[in-house]
Amino acid sequence: MGAGHAAGQFAARLRNEKFEGEIVMLGNEPQLPYQRPPLSKAYLAGEVGSDRVLLRPADFYEDKNVEVRLSTAVAAIDTGASTVTTQAVTTQAVATGAGDTLEYTHLVLATGARVRRLPGFELAGVHYVRTLADSDSLKSALAPGQKIIVVGGGYIGLEVAAVAAKRGAAVTVLEAQPRILSRVATAPVADYLRRVHEANGVVIRTGVRIARAEGEAGVGAVVLQDDAGAQGERIEADAVIVGIGITPNTELAEAAGLHVDDGIVVDERGATTCANVWAIGDCSRHPSRIYGRSVRLESVHNAMAQAGVVAANIAGKDTVYNEIPWFWSDQYDLKLQIAGLADGHDETVIRGDPDTGSFTVFALARGCVIAADSINAMRDHIECRKLAAAKKAVDKARLADVGVALKEL
Ligand code: APR
Repeated sequence: MGAGHAAGQFAARLRNEKFEGEIVMLGNEPQLPYQRPPLSKAYLAGEVGSDRVLLRPADFYEDKNVEVRLSTAVAAIDTGASTVTTQAVTTQAVATGAGDTLEYTHLVLATGARVRRLPGFELAGVHYVRTLADSDSLKSALAPGQKIIVVGGGYIGLEVAAVAAKRGAAVTVLEAQPRILSRVATAPVADYLRRVHEANGVVIRTGVRIARAEGEAGVGAVVLQDDAGAQGERIEADAVIVGIGITPNTELAEAAGLHVDDGIVVDERGATTCANVWAIGDCSRHPSRIYGRSVRLESVHNAMAQAGVVAANIAGKDTVYNEIPWFWSDQYDLKLQIAGLADGHDETVIRGDPDTGSFTVFALARGCVIAADSINAMRDHIECRKLAAAKKAVDKARLADVGVALKEL
């Protein structure tokens, strides 16, 4: 269920495992599985076309005998009867009629996530970025001289801000937290990126409270709340982009009686609490040996790795998922690469000089590296994954010294 990155990869991996049974992929979007990262980066900027965004070309699914049913949503799962009931939908995911009931031997939930919506922003000219259709609609709204407000200083907000600024728009980012990227990156990297955005003319305001959007035919302004909670400043906008996080699509799993806890709960093998039902990608929550707790990860790497593990298990192997998470973001000519999860770090160590445009920030907890954020430091990043996975105590002076190869640590 699902036809996103995780599902597309899963079907390919299952055939790689020499699985010869029937594979049916059900997706409520009209497109074959595609990659979402470019939607807020190169695709939005017009640097690559939709052909480059598809995960695999259409003939791949024919060659591999994978039946892909697009614009088809699953309306219900019956785990007792081992069936799913489908429903045809329009491009807006509106149901258009009854579908079929399909039997399964194994059911893989790859239902992904949807954007969190901002109440009071139901106006034309307010955009979200999750689907190809979202990105197309936003692309046509970006133009030189336009006043653009971005709500949320996470990956989506900052990537879109960078593309809009490069198009010559006047961009303001409004972030609720005291700093940008607070969920996903360390403070020194966030500070650095903030300076880069400001050097490109983007205004970043943190610690803001948003009251509502205003406008007649479409959005014309965003109104902020002042410290006393009253409506205060009004900032004009020709378009607003909201990037305030995502919510996993777990409703069908929950209705089917599966254990759901901010994500469909799976074990290390990717199995849910119901026999022969598996979950992969953004919608799932798995136990991490590395972190000693369960995590729900929003990343391409997680989707691909879990797809591989579940494909192997369905094909009869016994494989567990135990990999260090990693993420990336492209903004301007910068590549941010993140290895590991920095939650709970008590110290940071900077390796390299941020003024050179290439450096790494290590996040440590009780003297051990648990995560690292690299800016334009590809070679460091690969070693950082190993360091973060090992969680060994390290000599901080050597960690900071670019003269000492990370491999030696
Ligand atoms: N007003 C302003 N900012 C807000 C508000 C609000 N009402 N609510 C949340 N935010 C801020 C958060 O503090 C955070 O900095 O929005 C930001 C959202 O960042 P993320 O959680 O990283 O989500 P987003 O940037 O939308 O990315 C969603 O898409 O890039 C992919 O998989 C990636 O997980 C990522 C997902």
